Amino acid sequence: MSFSNAVSKNKISYDAVTISLHWITAALVIFLFGSAETWGFFERGGALRHELQLLHVSCGILLLPVVLFRVVWRFAHRGDLPPAAAGVQELLAKGTHLTLYALLVAQVTLGFLYRWAQGEDFGFFGLFSLPRIIDIDATWAHSIREFHNDVAWIIVALAGFHALAVLYHHYFLKDRLWARMIPSVNGDAP
Ligand code: HEM
Ligand code: HEM
Repeated sequence: MSFSNAVSKNKISYDAVTISLHWITAALVIFLFGSAETWGFFERGGALRHELQLLHVSCGILLLPVVLFRVVWRFAHRGDLPPAAAGVQELLAKGTHLTLYALLVAQVTLGFLYRWAQGEDFGFFGLFSLPRIIDIDATWAHSIREFHNDVAWIIVALAGFHALAVLYHHYFLKDRLWARMIPSVNGDAP
């Protein structure tokens, strides 16, 4: 039986926790990237640029528990849904998802290391500030920043490829793959 038939008949989607975590992660990643690409337009040392950087750091702190919980939840619910494709496509999809998880973990780690290397306030929406758990020499800041920037672009490119693949499934293969993450379209075939 093809995937297309299997999904059409079973009308399956991920559980609510997986779906919520997926969209919270996507929203945070888009905001984190968008904020970092935007603050360059504001005056260096200005209030707007500074506020945007503080928001970036706060949302970055939020991304840590979201990503950790997501990885744990994913492994606890392995096999809840069958692979969405077979052969090379299955490998490509699994590889993309696994790489995205790995890059998110790496990016959070780099973000934390960078903030500690900068030695600036590590506040969470003005509620509390994280202590300097790891003492990193400020001379590392430049290299970590470059790495953090490169990983950001790779994540965004891969997530873009991932989103295009989902759209391709939906509009060309018409197998309603996106119903797995958007249950409201889990009704009739498009
Ligand atoms: C997927 C998640 C993330 C993306 C896409 C992202 C993206 C970026 C980008 C593109 C920059 C600019 C780098 C440059 O100018 O060379 C940046 C800067 C920065 N990021 Fe992230 N980031 C993410 C997560 C985090 C996390 C988790 C933290 C830590 C809490 C963090 C902390 C920082 C800091 C401290 C800066 C520098 C801000 C400043 O110059 O004051 N980021 N980020
Ligand atoms: C920054 C943006 C995004 C990130 C980081 C991301 C990440 C992921 C990851 C890691 C998975 C694998 C879930 C698993 O463990 O099985 C996944 C699945 C999925 N994502 Fe995204 N995603 C993003 C954006 C999107 C967008 C924009 C769409 C819709 C167009 C989408 C639709 C889906 C669907 C339908 C699945 C299920 C695929 C399957 O079961 O094979 N994602 N996403």
